[in-house]
Amino acid sequence: MKALVIGGGGREHALVWKLAQSPLVDKVYCAPGNPGMDGVETLPLGTSQEMADFAAAHGIDLTMVGPEAPLCDGIVDVFRQRGLRIVGPNRFAAQLEGSKRFAKDFMRRHGLPTAKAEYFDAAAPALDYVRRMGAPIVVKADGLAAGKGVVVAMTVAEAEEAVKSCFDGAFGQAGARILIEECLVGEEASIIALCDSRTIVPLASSQDHKRVWDGDKGPNTGGMGAYSPAPVVTDEQWKVINQTVLQPFLKGCQEEKLDFRGIIYAGLMMTAEGPKVLEFNVRFGDPETQAILARLDSDLFEALAATADGRLADVTLRWSPKAAVCVVMASHGYPGAYEKGCIISGLEDAAATGAVVFHAGTAMKDGHFVTHGGRVLGVTALGDTIREAIDHAYAAVDKIHWDGVQFRRDIGQKALK
Ligand code: AMP
Ligand code: GLY
Repeated sequence: MKALVIGGGGREHALVWKLAQSPLVDKVYCAPGNPGMDGVETLPLGTSQEMADFAAAHGIDLTMVGPEAPLCDGIVDVFRQRGLRIVGPNRFAAQLEGSKRFAKDFMRRHGLPTAKAEYFDAAAPALDYVRRMGAPIVVKADGLAAGKGVVVAMTVAEAEEAVKSCFDGAFGQAGARILIEECLVGEEASIIALCDSRTIVPLASSQDHKRVWDGDKGPNTGGMGAYSPAPVVTDEQWKVINQTVLQPFLKGCQEEKLDFRGIIYAGLMMTAEGPKVLEFNVRFGDPETQAILARLDSDLFEALAATADGRLADVTLRWSPKAAVCVVMASHGYPGAYEKGCIISGLEDAAATGAVVFHAGTAMKDGHFVTHGGRVLGVTALGDTIREAIDHAYAAVDKIHWDGVQFRRDIGQKALK
């Protein structure tokens, strides 16, 4: 079988790595991929039509879409119209991630627990509202804003600033409509599941680290590290999440006839009143996927093919009892402006420790790997406990160096509390 993965970051590196382990898979392609993907044929990323042309011409048996943008653009619709097998929601269902309002309305209709919210499409009433409600309060651009469209404002002044910047065009059309939400308090967890609109199969739990600096300080990023499982999701909490989030989600898909044969990611806040949904993503998390797939003992190709075909009822996933930790190594300045082209050393020494180094933002220059993105590497290791996985991951991280490298020293610490 031949598999094609769309995307080129750390999540996609983890996907091609796991797909290549399947005895069913002879060849893996990735568009655009990255130079760290050993044994994978990379090709330029084209339009949805061009990707479908490629899949048809090369006899691709299964296409897996990593990022949200092609899903929201309707790549799944294009593939399915041409009879090509692909994993992901169609364009309509992808609005669960593409529009926060669409997601919020869906949750309200189907009774999923989530923060109370009001919508605004002009600054004046939004400003009135935040002044009336007071802080802390959360301001969100409605559309896709690459993870930067959310401000958790601790003061009214901060909230006013966020409202103004949205309507001043900081996020373009994505910020032309905003949601203002009650601020939820608790620990976050990521629940990612395969869903084919008939059955929902959760993957192992995980937790991301969104802030750039140790102790959850500094601005939000795409994610500075992750671990799996997340101890905050106890067996008891899993039952509650299944009953209040996953099953109502599935029922909602069925009642609204959503064509959702893909990945649903619920970002949860584990509040004193129970789990509440902060957001939906319609794809695998990055870097959660690096930690989760390191623990998956089942065949990923089989599971994804079953998702695309609507055969998930037949799938049971097997997980390693080990814990996994992924530490993201980033460029100096990320999530703001950063330098590119720094020579990366120590990759072989890191791999020799037994860790897997997933590439996210690297390039090849004169035979050396150099930095080429904000998030550069995701160093991932297993251990019998989270403590041990942390030690293994950082033992590998400490072998790797470039000028200005930055990473958090406390990935996984929350799980030890
Ligand atoms: P989102 O893109 O909606 O997941 O928001 C990004 C991050 O902002 C989340 O991971 C949370 O850390 C935080 N956040 C979002 N919504 C809320 C909320 N209602 N209360 C508290 N924190 C929030
Ligand atoms: N790690 C957060 C995300 O993938 O959205």
